[in-house]
Amino acid sequence: MEMQVSKKTSDAISSILYLDGVSVSFDGFKALNDLSFVVEPGQMQAIIGPNGAGKTTMMDVITGKTRPDEGEVYFRDNFDLTQLDEARIANLGIGRKFQKPTVFESHTVFDNLELSLKGDKGPFATLFASLTEMDRSRIEDVLETIRLSEKKDWLAGELSHGQKQWLEIGMLLMQDPELLLVDEPVAGMTDAETVQTAELLRLIAKTHSVVVVEHDMEFVRSLKCRVTVLHEGHVLAEGSLDKVSNDPQVIEVYLGR
Ligand SMILES: Nc1ncnc2c1ncn2[C@@H]1O[C@H](COP(=O)(O)OP(=O)(O)O)[C@@H](O)[C@H]1O
Ligand SMILES: [Mg+2]
Repeated sequence: MEMQVSKKTSDAISSILYLDGVSVSFDGFKALNDLSFVVEPGQMQAIIGPNGAGKTTMMDVITGKTRPDEGEVYFRDNFDLTQLDEARIANLGIGRKFQKPTVFESHTVFDNLELSLKGDKGPFATLFASLTEMDRSRIEDVLETIRLSEKKDWLAGELSHGQKQWLEIGMLLMQDPELLLVDEPVAGMTDAETVQTAELLRLIAKTHSVVVVEHDMEFVRSLKCRVTVLHEGHVLAEGSLDKVSNDPQVIEVYLGR
C-alpha cells in the first residue's frame, strides 16, 4: 500500500475521478494535452468529442493501459492511478467496457454472467462449482437490469449486437465496480437499442458512477447528464448539453462539421 499517495484525509470523498494536467504524446503528437476534469461520486458524466479527440486515450490512462507523460490521475481522492497496474486498478473498482463486445459466444448468457462473478476461481472451477443462492439471485438481478432474463439460456453468440453490448455491461456489473467507463456503447446499434441503452445507463448511474464516452449527440442528450467536450486532447467546454451545444467554440470545432 506504500504506493498510495494520500492527498486528503477526510472520510467523505470529493471526487471519484480526478485528472489534472494530463498529457500523453505518441511520437511527438499530443493525444492528451493538459487534460483536467473531475467526476463527482454517484454521477454520470458524458465525454464527447470528434474522432481523434483523445477519448479512448483518456480511458487508457485511467485504467493504467497508458502512462501519462505529465499530470495527476486519482481515484477516490487518494489512489494515484499513474502508479498502479491494470489489474490493480480493476480490483480497486474501475470497470471498463471496450467498444467491441468480448462475450464468450459459445457460453449461455447466464454462464457469461456467472464467469464474471467476483472471486478468482478461473473459468473451469467457476463453471463446476455450485452457485450459492446469493450468487444466483445476483445473476438474476443483473439479467433483469440488462433485460436479458428471457434469454438467459441462449448462447451469447445468438444475441444481436446490441444485446451482446448489454451482456458485457452486465458482466461488468457482476464485479460491482464503483466506477464504470463505457466507450461508445451505441456504435452499430439500432435506434431502438440506442434508446434502451440510454435507459440502462441511467438505471446503472443510480447506484454507480458512470463515465460514458460518445460522439453521438442525440444519444448523449438522452443521458440527461453533465457533459465534458474534448477537443485535441483538451477540455473545450463543460456543463449541460444545452450549455455546451450553444458554446461558439464547440459549434465551430464539433457541431458545425
Ligand atoms: N498507440 C497510439 N500510437 C499513436 N497514436 C495514437 C495511439 N493511440 C491514439 N493515437 C492517436 O491519438 C489521437 C487520439 O486518439 P483516441 O484517443 O483514440 O481518440 P478518440 O477515442 O477520441 O477517437 C488520435 O490522433 C490517434 O491517432
Ligand atoms: Mg475512441
